[in-house]
Amino acid sequence: MVNFVFQNPTKIVFGKGVLSQVGAEVSKYGKKALLVYGKNSIKANGVYDKVIASLNKSNIEVIEFNGVKGNPILSHAKEGIDLAKKYKVDLVLAVGGGSVLDEAKAIAAGAICESDIWDFFTAKKAVTEALPIITVLTLPATGSEMNGGMVITNELTCEKFGMGGVQALYPKVSFLDPETTYSLSLTQTAYACSDIMTHLLEGYFTTKAKTMPVQDGYIEGIAKAVMTSMLNIIDNSTDYNARAHFMWGATLGWNGIGALGIPGGSLPSHALEHPISAIYDIAHGAGLSITTVAWLKYRKEQIAPRILQFGRNILGVETESTDKVIDSLEAFYTKIGTPTRFIGAGIEVPDFDLLVNHSERLFKAWRIYGYTKEDLLAMYKIML
Ligand code: NZQ
Ligand code: ZN
Repeated sequence: MVNFVFQNPTKIVFGKGVLSQVGAEVSKYGKKALLVYGKNSIKANGVYDKVIASLNKSNIEVIEFNGVKGNPILSHAKEGIDLAKKYKVDLVLAVGGGSVLDEAKAIAAGAICESDIWDFFTAKKAVTEALPIITVLTLPATGSEMNGGMVITNELTCEKFGMGGVQALYPKVSFLDPETTYSLSLTQTAYACSDIMTHLLEGYFTTKAKTMPVQDGYIEGIAKAVMTSMLNIIDNSTDYNARAHFMWGATLGWNGIGALGIPGGSLPSHALEHPISAIYDIAHGAGLSITTVAWLKYRKEQIAPRILQFGRNILGVETESTDKVIDSLEAFYTKIGTPTRFIGAGIEVPDFDLLVNHSERLFKAWRIYGYTKEDLLAMYKIML
């Protein structure tokens, strides 16, 4: 166990019907809100109406900014910043999935600075302040609702960069109503499941520690619950408890607790994935089921005991063969409907040079050591 400091200031309001409280919480941070959302999902599933009704009840003035796309892009975030500045909003209210939340965070940070926000993502400048951020989560996956992270793609350069643990970017309050997730398709839910599992498992697989009793128990418990909930959601997509456990598991999976004290943990599956979703604009979770399986196949000898523990304690596979455990994970991904090869994500001819160049930069920036360009290429080739 290595030393750590942990501070997570986000207030979580969880459960059925909690959207009626949005206005009251927002009013603690101001009177004028920039409401950031995506395309049409929150209008189609009634979330928009509920949020607006609650805001109206608390007399909150609302400036709307919609059209955030999956894998949110820099130019759109800049439009949001211009709007936030023009109307001098007091806070940013994000309603949607991880992309909406991340772009809302970029807007909240950009609204009170004069420089180019891309400097935050290239580490030229640090984010030290932002407008208050409040979120209503409708797609549980990224953990953005309870973390200080955000990821934005610069569409001109195809660079998908992010940051984590930034105090100014933690939402003040996040609303999690599992019923808002009934409208997610099974495919979207499967991609979310893949993202949650990777958040939990990257540190678990890459740690140098032989045993981490508290962290292992936390990760194994949540991963099993999320996988079981996924299967229950396939059986019944409006199973409240399955949606609720899945939602809370997603938040706990990437709110910082899972990684605490783990020596040597790193994020190779994410560093392989970000270039894929930046270049081919696929869902982040779909990319992760591809990269995680390939990374495990490539590193299975170095991390054999952790893979076998994963098989035993999470998948319920008693074996001394790492291949059997990886096959079992691949079978789970296939069963729920998330790809494990490029072709399953519609990528027929991957541009290996571009992928390797982009991932090499991320491996360096995220201090993931022990991989050459040849290693990166070999892992991308396993994904064919
Ligand atoms: O645009 P709308 O109409 O809202 O539709 C969205 C979008 O098309 C839809 N959706 C959301 N909630 C729904 C719904 N459809 C029906 N019912 C609902 N209740 O889902 C689609 C995908 O949404 P998106 O927000 O893109 O998905 P996700 O939550 O997976 O977010 C992915 C983004 O987060 C980043 C990823 O890289 C990617 O850019 N990440 C952010 C992290 C963080 N902040 O800590 C960490 C992650 O590892 C990740 O990198
Ligand atoms: Zn992720």
